[in-house]
Amino acid sequence: MPHQPDSPPPPLFTWEFAADPYPAYAWLREHAPVHRTTLPSGVDAWLVTRYVDARQALADARLSKNPAHHSEQAHRTGRVGIPGERQADLMTHLLNIDPPDHTRLRRLVSKAFTPRRVAEFEPRVQQLTDRLIDSFAARGSADLIHEFAFPLPIYAICDLLGVPAEDQDDFRDWAGMMIRHGGGPRGGVARAVKRMRTYLAELIHRKRADPGDDLISGLIRASDHGEHLTENEAAAMAFILLFAGFETTVNLIGNGLYTLMNQPAQRARLQESIARGESELLATGVEELLRYDGPVELATWRFATAPLSIGGVDIPVGDPVLVVLAAADRDPAKFDQPDTLDLARRDNPHLGFGHGIHYCIGAPLARLEGQRALATLLTRLPDLQLAAEPGELRWRGGLIMRGLRELPVSFTP
Ligand code: HEM
Repeated sequence: MPHQPDSPPPPLFTWEFAADPYPAYAWLREHAPVHRTTLPSGVDAWLVTRYVDARQALADARLSKNPAHHSEQAHRTGRVGIPGERQADLMTHLLNIDPPDHTRLRRLVSKAFTPRRVAEFEPRVQQLTDRLIDSFAARGSADLIHEFAFPLPIYAICDLLGVPAEDQDDFRDWAGMMIRHGGGPRGGVARAVKRMRTYLAELIHRKRADPGDDLISGLIRASDHGEHLTENEAAAMAFILLFAGFETTVNLIGNGLYTLMNQPAQRARLQESIARGESELLATGVEELLRYDGPVELATWRFATAPLSIGGVDIPVGDPVLVVLAAADRDPAKFDQPDTLDLARRDNPHLGFGHGIHYCIGAPLARLEGQRALATLLTRLPDLQLAAEPGELRWRGGLIMRGLRELPVSFTP
């Protein structure tokens, strides 16, 4: 058992904690690296905060992603999973299932969602980025969450999936509902998820009859040893690609810009490098922003299906385990000067995209969007600055993600 100090653990999940959770995570890593706590929802769960334990837990087959393995208590309260998901029957997606089903579905989606498809998408991402910047560039001020970081990934994923342009604003509204209420009251979210589900089912139907070059047609076409995705599986897959690829990317752009605006020396170095047409610092820089203040604070739920021990602490069967990526990625046992932002950091095996069989399938797209978004903004609006005191900014209160509600900036038009 790790040494337990006399002083109690720092308060978790308060507003101060949301603004800067890193000191509390440092305390946990040091004094209670595998820590059982009661979450704001009332569910008890284990937090895993050291890098070595986090990486091991992410790859441990005894930790299931299937909420059916959750112990009685939380099952009764129904407080696990994506809000509204139960009602909309989208449970069979990658983040909720284990092998062998996970292996089969992941293999099928990998055939359609290839690195090549993402690479070919680069000009479109650039075009979307420029179009969004055009919409506020003459004004001299903007809220970069609402006007930039939020719409970019929605339009990008809709385009990639093959959602027609005229329907994409519906997705923007539904996603807005989901992000506003994520982790909070359910009514509106459940409705938004339900509408999205109905829409996706119809779209899949249409694409089956009249396939195109898009990802949904690719998902329908993908086959493995003669096996295909069922319509329900294809809808759940499209939904999880949207859901997992949306708020995460909003936060990569939002947290990344916020960090850069607060670190002028590092930012100047990056801007000069981009102006010289180099891509290396941009690439290592996005990885470092993922490590330093990444979009996913806690990996999604896992449940012990057999007795196991993490970092010397026994975890009972049925208990939820939350791997704190944000804590692991600041672990001094793994990273040199972990609390220092170093955009040129080379040895950077951060866990921002997870690890093991659930490793982020959208990482190439996220990197592309993050790099294009940051490079284009810093080039087109070079004197971009925060139009608020850092302490005034509000962070979203959700459990899994870490991101700003708004990011007001000013610049020379
Ligand atoms: C899984 C992070 C963008 C689709 C994950 C996981 C993490 C993550 C940490 C693993 C969760 C766990 O093991 O509990 C991120 C970050 C992103 C990002 C930080 C942006 C910066 C995207 C994008 C897409 C996407 C753009 C798709 C369009 C997925 C999917 C999974 C996943 C489908 C589940 C994979 C599986 O279970 O096999 N992501 N993600 N993500 N991500 Fe991402």
